[in-house]
Amino acid sequence: MAKIAVLGYGTVGSGVVEVLSDNAESIAKKAGETIEVKSVLDIRDFPGDPIQEKIVHDIDLIVNDDEIDVVVEVMGGVEPAFTFVKKALEAGKSVCTSNKALVAAHGAELLALAKEKNLNFMFEASVGGGIPIIRPLNGSLTADEVTKITGIMNGTTNYILTKMSREGSSYEEVLKEAQELGYAERNPEADVEGYDACRKIAILTSIAYGKTVNFEEITTEGITKISNEDFMYADKLGCVVKLLATSYEKDGKVYAITSPFMINSTHPLYNVNGVLNGIHLNGNMVGDVMFFGAGAGKLPTASAVVGDVVDCVKHKGKNVIMLWSAEKLELASTDEEVRSFFVRVKGNSEDLSEVKKAFGEVKTVTVDELEGEFGFITDKMTEKSFNEATSKINMISRLRIDDTELQ
Ligand code: HSE
Repeated sequence: MAKIAVLGYGTVGSGVVEVLSDNAESIAKKAGETIEVKSVLDIRDFPGDPIQEKIVHDIDLIVNDDEIDVVVEVMGGVEPAFTFVKKALEAGKSVCTSNKALVAAHGAELLALAKEKNLNFMFEASVGGGIPIIRPLNGSLTADEVTKITGIMNGTTNYILTKMSREGSSYEEVLKEAQELGYAERNPEADVEGYDACRKIAILTSIAYGKTVNFEEITTEGITKISNEDFMYADKLGCVVKLLATSYEKDGKVYAITSPFMINSTHPLYNVNGVLNGIHLNGNMVGDVMFFGAGAGKLPTASAVVGDVVDCVKHKGKNVIMLWSAEKLELASTDEEVRSFFVRVKGNSEDLSEVKKAFGEVKTVTVDELEGEFGFITDKMTEKSFNEATSKINMISRLRIDDTELQ
């Protein structure tokens, strides 16, 4: 029998206990032995809940317990999670976590420590919730060189954008509703400003290219400035607006960005709606692959965590290599990226002279309800040239366009 401890009895922690209990028999067959939760660390008590007899308040009771082989960290945040995970690895326990803040900040260091100790540090649930993406990248797709990863990796913002698009409600209205339904946090900053998705693409990019991406260096824009007017134009153009987190390799340079993008119906992520996540990946051998499903939520996230626990149990005494070194991956400047842009400008669509002077010939678009303005789509150009050109026009707003197409 393998015994594990769970750090944090919140949504995901209680989900892990539930998954291990509900699917105990089939999990035992797949792991080769039964898996039992011996201890649960939480600052709270849960009187009346059967978990209470397993609750401990001191991490050292877990770290010093020789019976515990695997520690599940689902507390969230960098500290004290980092200290606790390090202690667990140093004490000879493999660790599974859903904590993207921890993995984005300390992934390479914790992987190195696990390797040194012949243990495992696994974090499937840190990106895309229940969607398998870390293990495919580190297993099934190791024959490939990854050329591009593009994902809708945040359920909260995808829910908000989908609702705005379908119902014409404002960002503020939908955010309030999402908070009431429990999809969005009381403090939604990490989601709506793109920080959550930024950490997730930093993790995937680090695994794809084997070096550490500093997530703070990824150009990151959230969805707070997306307006109903943007959706009106998008609709007219047969497009939707999605918060994409993307990275790709071109001419030996790696680019990464998290930003709202306009995408059309040929884009693989066009139909990823509501709280669902989707990750599209291109490899130089496999071509295009898509991962789609529940990117958050108690049981989907717990399913990914427990999958890691089973893997740790199956690989007891053997480190599963993951190529992610502490060496820094220098990202190329966003200024150099080449793409098209959708731009809203003040004025009359017949009077294009300023726009033409700055951008040359462009494709214009108007929306009947929106007077005194029009939109246009630029040719592909660098971000730097785009920014220079926009200083010469009366721009209201702009959206990047992602024109990834299936091969
Ligand atoms: N806040 C995240 C989301 C949870 O909305 O996708 C999963 O990481």
